[in-house]
Amino acid sequence: MTAAYVHVPFCARVCPYCDFAVVAGKDELTERYFDALLAEIDMEPAAGPLESVFIGGGTPSRVAPELLKGVIDRLAERFGLVDDVEVSLEANPEDWTPGVADGFSMAGINRVSFGVQSFDDEVLAGLGRMHTAPDGGVAVARARGAGFDSVSLDLIFSSPGESPGSWAATVETAIALQPDHISTYALTVERGTELSRQVLAGAAAPDPDDQADKYELARTALVANGFTHYEVSNYARPGHECRYNLNTWRQGDYLAFGLGAHGHRDGVRRRNVRRFEAYLDMVEQDQPPEAGREVIAAWDAELERVFLGVRMRTGVAAGAVGPVLAADPEGQALVEAGKLEVTANSILVLDPLFTDAVARVVLGLARPSDTRVTGNG
Ligand SMILES: C[S@@+](CC[C@H](N)C(=O)[O-])C[C@H]1O[C@@H](n2cnc3c(N)ncnc32)[C@H](O)[C@@H]1O
Ligand code: SF4
Repeated sequence: MTAAYVHVPFCARVCPYCDFAVVAGKDELTERYFDALLAEIDMEPAAGPLESVFIGGGTPSRVAPELLKGVIDRLAERFGLVDDVEVSLEANPEDWTPGVADGFSMAGINRVSFGVQSFDDEVLAGLGRMHTAPDGGVAVARARGAGFDSVSLDLIFSSPGESPGSWAATVETAIALQPDHISTYALTVERGTELSRQVLAGAAAPDPDDQADKYELARTALVANGFTHYEVSNYARPGHECRYNLNTWRQGDYLAFGLGAHGHRDGVRRRNVRRFEAYLDMVEQDQPPEAGREVIAAWDAELERVFLGVRMRTGVAAGAVGPVLAADPEGQALVEAGKLEVTANSILVLDPLFTDAVARVVLGLARPSDTRVTGNG
C-alpha cells in the first residue's frame, strides 16, 4: 500500500506543548511554500497509486483550499489516486468557517481531524489554544454539513489543572457529537517546548497515575459507546479506522513532502530538514530537502514491524521476533504479568498501558545467532 504525507507548517502561534515542525508569523510565505511543495512532489520517483493522503501540520486549515487542491491534484497527476482514496486534513476548530469547510470538501478532502483537545475552556486556555469549547461542536456540525465522510477529534488528557471530572465531561461531550473517530493523547512534555521550560522551573509535570486513570476512563466510555479501540490512542466506528495511520503501523510505504516530513519507501527511511528557510532554499535550488536517510537492515525492519504492530489491538504476526521475545527475560516477565501474549503465530499486548514497555523490550532484542545446526542427519 502507498500513502503520502504532506506537511503544512503554518500556525497562528505556537502552542506551549508543541514540538512539531511549525512556523508562526510567516503566513506571507505560504504561496512560496506551496510552490516548493509542488516542486518537491515532482522530484519524487514514480510510485502509487496512493490509497491515502494525510495533510498534517502545523495548521493546514489556515491555508486557502485552492492551495491544498493544487497539491492533491499534483499528487494525483504524479502518482494516481485509488477511486476511494482517503484524503485527511488536520484542522483547528477556529478556522472552520462554513465557506472553508465547503472549499476543503471541493478540494478533494474527505476526512477531517479537529484538534479539539478539550471541551473545558479553562483547560483550553492553559494549553494556549485559540478556540473555545463550543467551537469544537460547531466545527463538527459544519463538517457534516459539508459532507465529509469521516470526522475525527483529537483530545489531550492530563493537561495542567484538568480534573478527573473535566476529562470525563470532555469524553462525554465528544461522544455526544457522534464523530467517526477519536484520538486520545496523554499530554507529553517535549524537550525544548515552553511547557518543558515551565516544568523545569517547577510547574507540575503530568502525573502518570492521573494519565493511566484518564486513559482507562476514555477507553471504557468509548468502547461502551460503540467505538472500536483499534490502536493504543485511537478509536473508530466500524469502517472509519484511519487508513493512513494503519498503513504506517503496518510498515507500508509513505511518501513525505514538506518541512520536517518523514517518509518510508522501499526499505529506506528519510526525513526532511526542519528549518523553514533551508527547506525553501534547497527545493528552489532543485535539491531534495533531505536532512538524512537510513537503509533499514533486515533484522531492524523485523523489530520495527513488531514495534509498530503491537500498537494495534489486533496484534502482529510473531515472525522471527516471536521466539526471541518469548525467550527474553523482560519479555517473559511481561507475559507472566498478564500484559503480553506471545504465541507461535502472534504477539499481542493485553494491557494497552504496557504498549510502550513492550516496544522498549522489542527494540532491545538482539538478532538471533545465524549459527544453525544443519545437515541431513
Ligand atoms: C501537531 S497537531 C496538528 C494539528 C493542529 N494544529 C492542532 O493543533 O490540533 C496534531 C495533534 O497532536 C497532538 N499533540 C501535539 N502535541 C502534543 C503533546 N505534546 N502531547 C500530546 N498530544 C500532542 C494534539 O492532540 C494535536 O491535535
Ligand atoms: S499544536 Fe497545532 S496549532 Fe499548536 S503549534 Fe502545534 S501544530 Fe500549531
